[in-house]
Amino acid sequence: MSQYIIEGGKSLCGSVRVQGAKNSALPILAACVAVGAPCVIHNCPELSDIGCTIRILRSLGCEVHRSAGTVSVDGSCITDASIDDALMREMRSSIIFLGALLSATGEAVMSAPGGCDIGLRPIDLHLAAMRKLGIKVTERHGKIRCTCKRVRGNKITLSFPSVGATENIILASVRASGVTTIINAAREPEIVDLAMFLNSCGARISGAGESTVIIEGVERLRSVQYAIMPDRIAACTYMSAAAVTGSSVIIEDVIPAHLVPVFSTYEQMGCRLEAAGSKIRITAPKRLSAPEIIRTMPYPGFPTDCQALVMSAAAVADGVTFINENIFENRFRHTSELCRMGADIRVYDKLAVVRGVESLQGACVNATDLRAGAALVVAGLCAEGVTTVNSIQYIDRGYDSLEENLTSLGARIRRND
Ligand code: EPZ
Repeated sequence: MSQYIIEGGKSLCGSVRVQGAKNSALPILAACVAVGAPCVIHNCPELSDIGCTIRILRSLGCEVHRSAGTVSVDGSCITDASIDDALMREMRSSIIFLGALLSATGEAVMSAPGGCDIGLRPIDLHLAAMRKLGIKVTERHGKIRCTCKRVRGNKITLSFPSVGATENIILASVRASGVTTIINAAREPEIVDLAMFLNSCGARISGAGESTVIIEGVERLRSVQYAIMPDRIAACTYMSAAAVTGSSVIIEDVIPAHLVPVFSTYEQMGCRLEAAGSKIRITAPKRLSAPEIIRTMPYPGFPTDCQALVMSAAAVADGVTFINENIFENRFRHTSELCRMGADIRVYDKLAVVRGVESLQGACVNATDLRAGAALVVAGLCAEGVTTVNSIQYIDRGYDSLEENLTSLGARIRRND
């Protein structure tokens, strides 16, 4: 079982380049199936989730080549519309292939993705939307079968601005007959990136990033080269690393506008943030102040994916922080591991009360999910002594070169495979 060994207490300096966004790359690679022509995707992060996505693309008959951060996908030769169970279980966000396969073949067969460490992760909104688009959906024996002659555009109101459901509706309706309107769509930047990719292929999508998205179905899409946007959650991870170590660090290749939902939190903690072009310099105080209240919300609210990363900072801040996790029902699993490092955190259902301590102590802790694992690495950077983070395969799902990047900033972190 792979682990990180981190020697805490080192201040950081220098600059770090942020990877391409995992949560953009996954839907855009799946979208290549809907495009049905060869596409080249640049700035694709090297992650285990990307590896799984490439295996799914190949299992569907796509020709895929990867060279460093560039992945070329030829979706013009789909030979299969079903994704096998093992691949669906390996990465539950494979559900994003549903809409793309329906656009390309009028059919999709996959197992229910099931829950994960942070929650049940239902897909009722996805399937209800597919039915509204004239798609026949059956769910039997753990399998989801979707078929239609041709997707028919319709008006769909989401009861919750689900990111995945919004993406699946866009992917299913991009080549539909007629117009699809999504009311209460997710507004995350990853939705905008997906729409920009598809529009560069000739799609007609407007309103992405707003609550109402309109997709005018087109007959066909064309080949394109496209670069994935920067990963705002990875950027927040490095911001937290600088914050807990009292450092001044430059984070490069970011879109500062995407980080506005977290800026005020870091400023409340006493950090100075200077944005210039695609760079952000964060300068942290010797001791952080508690940000007091954090409520995770759909974008443009505070992102749930940054909750654990900011909790690690709040754990050593001066004061008490109240963190409300409103998106996922089981996204406080890192708190028990942080308490093992000396943090003072109490959890009451959706609320975590974090009383900052002077310092954390290094300990042996376990990553329980992607962002929880990253939060433990951040905590290890400022803890006294050595921290061992186990089960870092979770971290490999979403971070490209995390230990190399932190080492380049002066952290003492090494990987034991
Ligand atoms: C995406 O997950 C991201 N994953 C998540 O990032 C992110 O935390 C989440 O959006 C919220 O921003 C990818 O993009 C691959 P949702 P997704 O559908 O699409 C409920 C990370 O760490 N819901 O917006 O699954 C659901 O249970 C990952 O990078 C339904 O009830 O998120 C949850 O409570 C973790 N029914 C809420 O909506 C549905 O049909 C938000 O889910 C769908 C969702």
